[in-house]
Amino acid sequence: MTRHFTDIDDLSADELTTVLDTASELKAQVNRGEREPLLERQTLGMVFEKPSARTRISFETGMTQLGGHAIFLGPEDIGLGEREPLKDTARTLSGFVDCAMVRLFDHADLEELAAHATVPIVNGLTDDAHPCQTLADLLTIRETVGFDSRIAWVGDGNNVAQSFVLGCALAGIDLTVATPEGYGIDDDVLERAAELGARPTTTDDPERAVTDADAVYTDVLVSMGETGGAEKRIAFQESGFQLSEQLLAGTDARVLHCLPAHRGEEITDTVIESERSLVWRQAENRLHAQKGLLAFLLDAR
Ligand code: CP
Ligand code: NVA
Repeated sequence: MTRHFTDIDDLSADELTTVLDTASELKAQVNRGEREPLLERQTLGMVFEKPSARTRISFETGMTQLGGHAIFLGPEDIGLGEREPLKDTARTLSGFVDCAMVRLFDHADLEELAAHATVPIVNGLTDDAHPCQTLADLLTIRETVGFDSRIAWVGDGNNVAQSFVLGCALAGIDLTVATPEGYGIDDDVLERAAELGARPTTTDDPERAVTDADAVYTDVLVSMGETGGAEKRIAFQESGFQLSEQLLAGTDARVLHCLPAHRGEEITDTVIESERSLVWRQAENRLHAQKGLLAFLLDAR
């Protein structure tokens, strides 16, 4: 059966551990100057409807390091959903590539591709979810503060937050989510987290969330393709949703951000440049985590 990765909970808790263990092993190999060609002569198709730095570069580099190849297909190339139905694109891709990573607006489009593809479809971000980011986040947390720590999300209840909520539930991490009123995590995601074993604590008070936190995670206020940004920025500013030295004063919390960051909005320049920041490790871990994921999905381990 073809395994897709539409969100982080397509993996069981044990499978998540396997992917993270493989990622750590492959990371150690790269740091020793070794590159095991687990995916020799295999091809990854990469379909992008939205811009990307980390996702595109890490998947392409990862395939090169694994002895395979990646093809970049931007918004003008496939004309996804415009030149032909999504199901035809899914079947066509399946005839050529071994795996396809897609970054789309509509999560339903990703599910439609997955329903008709006979190769793994990997979610490289949709409006609702960003599970590849969650893999890198969990790898970073495991390497630093550990899974038995307290993590706080302080910011928009967006795609990155939603997959992170499910990832923390799978990993058994104690998570508090602070979002301004009206910008919370979808109820079905919170219910799914409960089913997975850990519904996060939710609040609209950022100070309460960061108290006793070992790491605090945030993301942009306005995501790609989102409208109504001006009003949202005011709501966040007025309710104190910015990772600043003032908010983090009195805590030793490390700081996570999926990047790109908007300094002066969701996070200050001082905080992201401080000793607290784990963001560059977190960005690099996209590469290692996704290599672990590809090895798992393509049964190369
Ligand atoms: N964090 C992340 O997905 O970055 P990009 O949008 O640059 O790929
Ligand atoms: N929430 C952001 C994440 C970018 C990696 C967005 O969707 O634009």
